[in-house]
Amino acid sequence: MMSPFTVKEMSEIDEVIERARELVEPDSNTIEKARIAEKEIEARLKKLLKYYPEIEFRFLGSYARDTWLPESLEIDVFLLFPESYTMDELEKIALEIGISAVDTHELRYASHPYVHGTVKGVEIDIVPCYRLSKIEKIKSAVDRTPFHHKWVKERVKGKESDVRLLKRFMKVTGVYGAEYRIKGFSGYLCELLVIHYGSFLNTVKEAARWKRNLVIDPSRKKAHPKKGLENIFVIDPVDEKRNVAANLSINSLARFVEACRLFLRAPSPDYFVPKTPSFDENRLRAEVEGRFVYCVVFERPPVVEDNLYTQLERAEKRIRKLLEENEFSVMKSSHTAGKKCYLIFEVLSGQVSPVKKHYGPNFENYTNSMKFIEKNREYSRFFENGRYMTYRRRKFTEARDLIEHAIRSEYRSMGKDISEFVKKGRVVERSEILKYGELKAHLSDFLGVG
Ligand code: CTP
Ligand code: MG
Ligand code: MN
Repeated sequence: MMSPFTVKEMSEIDEVIERARELVEPDSNTIEKARIAEKEIEARLKKLLKYYPEIEFRFLGSYARDTWLPESLEIDVFLLFPESYTMDELEKIALEIGISAVDTHELRYASHPYVHGTVKGVEIDIVPCYRLSKIEKIKSAVDRTPFHHKWVKERVKGKESDVRLLKRFMKVTGVYGAEYRIKGFSGYLCELLVIHYGSFLNTVKEAARWKRNLVIDPSRKKAHPKKGLENIFVIDPVDEKRNVAANLSINSLARFVEACRLFLRAPSPDYFVPKTPSFDENRLRAEVEGRFVYCVVFERPPVVEDNLYTQLERAEKRIRKLLEENEFSVMKSSHTAGKKCYLIFEVLSGQVSPVKKHYGPNFENYTNSMKFIEKNREYSRFFENGRYMTYRRRKFTEARDLIEHAIRSEYRSMGKDISEFVKKGRVVERSEILKYGELKAHLSDFLGVG
């Protein structure tokens, strides 16, 4: 018989998770610092809003729900305007109030411009939105926020630390954040997952078996596969049409599922500790020298990050397409930005034949065959499977020259804010790429030696 004093031992995975909680919990100093800033901003806004009694402020977002990560403390304050205000009035007044309420500030852009600043050393977002009676009246994405908060706040109670675990786990995996650079999971999505599955561990266990065609419906506590779906769809509990995972890329999904599987197989607190990027300098050098890698480097234009990354992707796709049209077989391409911007391409071979095959008609087609024969050509004709063929000289035999040509004369189609910068960029190859130290970690990853 079991003794009443027998304590059931914790499983290894529970132990790891309990230890990891300490890694994601803010310490008392940070909490204190946050409270002081919160009280201060509250006092300042109360004063400023005396002149606008119909505008209300609310603390929303992860700070208000106590699901923030200590390394990214940021207090989200929303200014709720009555619907009678026009969009222009809302923007103007919100910026005015926001700027007066903080110690230092910069403007940022989401649906509207908003103020990002600091109060007593703590980062603050002051975002305007409308106070709506029904979500159907929504004018911009941020108008959903008060509804999100209302839905999540009570349900996430007692699970705050599980949300923090999930956020950090995703951060370390490189899939936390809905911004264009990451194409991962937003904070709100993490909260919904923990509410839906009940805990961090259960989320990880379920996600280890996710498929891309999964629909998750947190408000009905249900999930089902849907034919033809190309990435998971998480139904927003406050707006059924909206996919909370709309910004998630299929590769970020795959990365997360893989991390869940590996964590379950060999649980470790390492999954909650940010990694410092490391690479083997010698190996990296050998790989860039031995392979056909090209990099377009240009100055970073002054645009907000989401717009920058959208356009970098566009420029990358454009050049990739030109390479393919000219029969350079592209193995991989990528983009990133630090102090400068980089577009990276690897091709199977940097050089192609001076001639390309030119396809004519099948011999059965009399009219077109005769046309094909009568044309003056540099190379003679031949048949392939009964089809007329000949050779033509090609314009670009070196990938490098083609990329150079692309940035000098095709730059216009590469994104409005970056095109002029692309045009003035340069193409570098082989070990010259390594001069750009900030690129090395990304490049190692790109080449498969990260
Ligand atoms: N939000 C939104 N639409 C956006 C951006 C944000 O509705 N385009 C809302 C979300 O409800 C979010 C809140 O604004 O909870 C604050 O946004 P953000 O600070 O980006 O996310 P958090 O949830 O606070 O998560 P984090 O811990 O990463 O700050
Ligand atoms: Mg936040
Ligand atoms: Mn924010």
